[in-house]
Amino acid sequence: MKVLLTGGAGYIGSHTAVELVEAGYDIVIGDNFSNSKRDVIDRLKKITKKEIKFYEIDFTDYEAVDKLFEEEKFDAVIHFAGLKAVGESCSIPLDYYQNNIDSTLVLLKAMKKYEVENIVFSSSATVYGIPKEVPLKENMPTFCTNPYGWTKYMNEQILKDVAKANPKMSVVLLRYFNPIGAHESGLIGEDPNGIPNNLMPYITQVATKKLPLLSVFGNDYPTKDGTGVRDYIHVVDLAKGHVKAIEFSFKNRGTEVFNLGTGKGYSVLDIVKAFETANEVEVPYVIAERRDGDVAECYADPSKAEQLLKWHAERDLVQMCKDSWNWQQNCTNNF
Ligand code: NAD
Ligand code: UD1
Repeated sequence: MKVLLTGGAGYIGSHTAVELVEAGYDIVIGDNFSNSKRDVIDRLKKITKKEIKFYEIDFTDYEAVDKLFEEEKFDAVIHFAGLKAVGESCSIPLDYYQNNIDSTLVLLKAMKKYEVENIVFSSSATVYGIPKEVPLKENMPTFCTNPYGWTKYMNEQILKDVAKANPKMSVVLLRYFNPIGAHESGLIGEDPNGIPNNLMPYITQVATKKLPLLSVFGNDYPTKDGTGVRDYIHVVDLAKGHVKAIEFSFKNRGTEVFNLGTGKGYSVLDIVKAFETANEVEVPYVIAERRDGDVAECYADPSKAEQLLKWHAERDLVQMCKDSWNWQQNCTNNF
């Protein structure tokens, strides 16, 4: 079975590449390296001890994508490629809509022409907007608060409509919660450009003293310690969820939506403490103002994935903290 990984050089795509190769899939990575580095491909070869086929390609370029589908006979696609910074999406919304929606339209057009009928899509818990209750279930209302989120929402709708029009199609929409951690080899992980927006990369850079201290955004939320609660999931568990989703797509038709989370909520201070204990390093912090657009609590009910995909997250918070730290010592933003 040959699977195309759009954006396969990125954080989640690269970890999924490893798991797919280990599960016996033939994979092809396509990436324009707008938010990843070429040496990821060599690192993947080191981990898997296999050749990794890749194309430097922009998925908004129909001619290039058509050529790719003609050359490779894909059985399925996992569509990771996309821009993902929430704040940036508010300043340059057109770029977000164009990149994230066009790439999906182009892919779907090529899939139709070459009769590729299985697609797994990287959606996000961001489509739940401001949750009225937690844990979040797949059938709860969706709404977004920023252009990035709307691109996920719109892509979900486009994919559902296309699957409705073609009964042979299988669409799996995966709503990720907060992926952190890295591959145990320390060879791949998240390597954000500039100052990180997300909590764990920020913590690891404070721990190396690259950044002076962490700002904890708000301690007056209605949560156990007043700080925001999220469902942090090890990226390797998330990657394994994609292998299950691909298997599911081959056995089912139509559209299915799954939360990929652990079902456990941890506060910002839980994460800071767990990181300090697991790695015996200090993470100095100050309490700062709430960040615009943040919600108090967001965590998954992952039981649908457990039931239908036969998947659940296995790695605990200690492992997530250790692997994030191990990666931080190896990644390029150290140098
Ligand atoms: P990432 O930025 O590390 O990976 C995305 C990859 O796509 C990058 O390698 C980038 O170069 C590539 N890319 C972007 N636009 C492209 C295009 N037009 N053509 C070719 N390649 C392109 O991000 P990630 O964290 O691995 O996320 C993967 C997907 O999961 C994204 O769609 C993201 O929105 C979604 N997601 C991520 C998170 C998270 O916390 N990381 C949470 C929810 C959803
Ligand atoms: C953010 C995005 C979400 C996206 C996800 C993964 C927003 C509003 N949401 O989720 O759409 O899918 O990233 O890319 O941006 N925190 C601090 N200090 C920091 C950084 C974060 O206290 O320096 C806190 C936040 O307030 C939050 C928690 O840590 O309570 C997690 O934040 P973050 O890692 O940015 O993820 P989300 O906001 O959940």
